[in-house]
Amino acid sequence: MTSKRRLFVTTALPYANGPFHIGHIMEYIQADTWVRFQRMQGHEVHFVGADDAHGAPIMIAAEKAGKSPQQFVADIAAGRPQYLDGFHIRFDNWHSTDGAENHQLAQDIYRALRKKGLIFTREIEQFYDPVKGMFLPDRYIKGHCPKCGAADQYGDACEVCGAVYSPTELKNPYSVLSGATPELRKSEHYFFQLSSERCADFLRDWTQACNERGVPHLQPEMLNKVREWFATDENGHGGLADWDISRDAPYFGIEIPDAPGKYFYVWLDAPIGYLASLKNHFDKGQAATHWHVPSRTAQTYDQFVADPAVEQIHFIGKDIVYFHTLFWPAMLHFSGRKTPSLVNVHGFVTVGGEKMSKSRGTGISPLKYLDIGLNPEWLRYYLAAKLNARVEDVDFTPEDFVSRVNSDLIGKYVNIASRAAKFISQYFDGQLRYSGASAELTERAQALADDVASALESREYARAVREIMAHADRINGAFDAAQPWLLAKDESRRSELQDACSRALAGFWTLSVLLAPVLPALTSRVARELFGLDRDFAWSDAAVLPGRVAPYQHLMQRIDPKQLDRLFESDAVPAAPPQPAAAPAPESQEATISIDDFAKVDLRIARILHAETVEGSTKLLRLTLDVGETDDNGQPRTRNVFSGIRSAYRPEDLIGRFTVMVANLAPRKMKFGLSEGMVLAASAADEKAQPGLYLLEPHSGAQPGMRVR
Ligand code: 2FM
Ligand code: ZN
Repeated sequence: MTSKRRLFVTTALPYANGPFHIGHIMEYIQADTWVRFQRMQGHEVHFVGADDAHGAPIMIAAEKAGKSPQQFVADIAAGRPQYLDGFHIRFDNWHSTDGAENHQLAQDIYRALRKKGLIFTREIEQFYDPVKGMFLPDRYIKGHCPKCGAADQYGDACEVCGAVYSPTELKNPYSVLSGATPELRKSEHYFFQLSSERCADFLRDWTQACNERGVPHLQPEMLNKVREWFATDENGHGGLADWDISRDAPYFGIEIPDAPGKYFYVWLDAPIGYLASLKNHFDKGQAATHWHVPSRTAQTYDQFVADPAVEQIHFIGKDIVYFHTLFWPAMLHFSGRKTPSLVNVHGFVTVGGEKMSKSRGTGISPLKYLDIGLNPEWLRYYLAAKLNARVEDVDFTPEDFVSRVNSDLIGKYVNIASRAAKFISQYFDGQLRYSGASAELTERAQALADDVASALESREYARAVREIMAHADRINGAFDAAQPWLLAKDESRRSELQDACSRALAGFWTLSVLLAPVLPALTSRVARELFGLDRDFAWSDAAVLPGRVAPYQHLMQRIDPKQLDRLFESDAVPAAPPQPAAAPAPESQEATISIDDFAKVDLRIARILHAETVEGSTKLLRLTLDVGETDDNGQPRTRNVFSGIRSAYRPEDLIGRFTVMVANLAPRKMKFGLSEGMVLAASAADEKAQPGLYLLEPHSGAQPGMRVR
């Protein structure tokens, strides 16, 4: 075996403003599988995560929730274990970027960079919300696209024509937070000089270099991407730009030393959170005990990170590559620290080929997955069967999921045990015996284990699973060829029967060892209950022949495809009849409904951020509503609603006002665009005789997103 490696492994730190989505879970499963594989080989691994606590979106979400940001983040953190435990994802430590270690480390790193002359200040001009009293991140400014004129486009890019621009170019800009027209104001910002010769030289080398094991720091497709970022045109334009690392108060973040009122931009301290969580882990004194090597004395964080043999390995998604391949290695290097050994980038999860989106209800909710009783190891297996080392999206389709789990995992692997163990218990009292040459068995197992190890090491999980399943096919083939059901009928052929079943079970043992990083709970039962070990499998068990087997106990259920239907069933209320305009209240009362019926209607307080007339319609106004929601990336999400209230209101009079909306009405496609809900207004039964339309408005104090009940 190779000598003991010392590994520090991380996954991207999730923003602490929402629960995990399936993309987080996939990344954690990918990393957890790798970590388990390394541990099975006896290597020392410290696998840490943390909540990414800082930044404007979290500050604003906390304010909306009526909590301090610290409390808000703590409440989100409290929800993490049920996901992690639920999917057998075993971090050694989970911390927060708002932890004391991170404040200290971020300030230390900043001071070191400043000492190196890589920090400078520059005055910049930025939009400021005079009502909220804060500078606005680009995503909090909306307006008409400067290129195509589309309404309600974010400050950085147009979702209609794809144009990219700066917020100052938007026409009729408004603040998503207050609806106010933003003002341009000047402020001094701190910058990291990424464009300097020193940085560029270092990064050009580092991004192309290999780590201590001769493996490139970056995957080939990522290196190509990075090369594009380095590229300059014939006029020398382009290339790496300096990085704005400061934000003005009010901001939830870490104070910049010697710069009152200035905070680190969240992305400066976020990756430092990897180190902070590691330090927190060591300081808690857990680091030495986790991997059961009694000879190693307790070590400190400082000793660990000072060891040049330590490999630092990050698992991240393809959307945050810039931060991890440029800023992060540069920050580490120029502050005198070790740089990452590997930045492993994966693609996104798609569902049926579509990018998943919570708002469109196409995602897979991890918690629902667990709640409805789907086995977490089915998902771990499925993802392993699809993941490779390239930056490709992983597509989940229900049919594929059912087929891989039922036909391969259960049909090929689990069934070996149930078929063979039965005979061994019935005729041989659990005793396994190999009458032929057993060396050939162990050699084949060792060769397979080596192939699978190299696939897992390089994150080619799909290849590992293919090899494992091909071996399962061979085992089943040999078992069937021996016709054990016939042998069992002939007493004179008992030793042939025992040999055939023993070989099948030895094969099952090997497969279980190789699948253990993917299926930790199932294979732990196999090791302990079926084969009587008093521990989980180690990688070196792969080529060992088991001596006994216990009576078979049921190991794993097949998927009933109906369970998957439930996973994708929408939990929303069935769509009400199309009614984009405010519904007139009927005069006579309707039949009574139960309180449960009423509870199905999700009524929310909405703030009208923007209102405008709709070309081609005399009745409708187009409203942009803030209902206190965020999108999959934690950015504020607004709703677009067409409402038939034009006869009663001028658009400019509505901006900034509060009203009530039906938030779970099925979205309706109209000639003018998608209407995502309905606002409530009162009117007489006979509108002709008694005209007048009155938008509902809550008493003051109600906040966007509050439920009306
Ligand atoms: O994109 C995100 O979700 C960030 N919170 C990831 C941060 S990774 C690391 F830098 F902390
Ligand atoms: Zn546009």
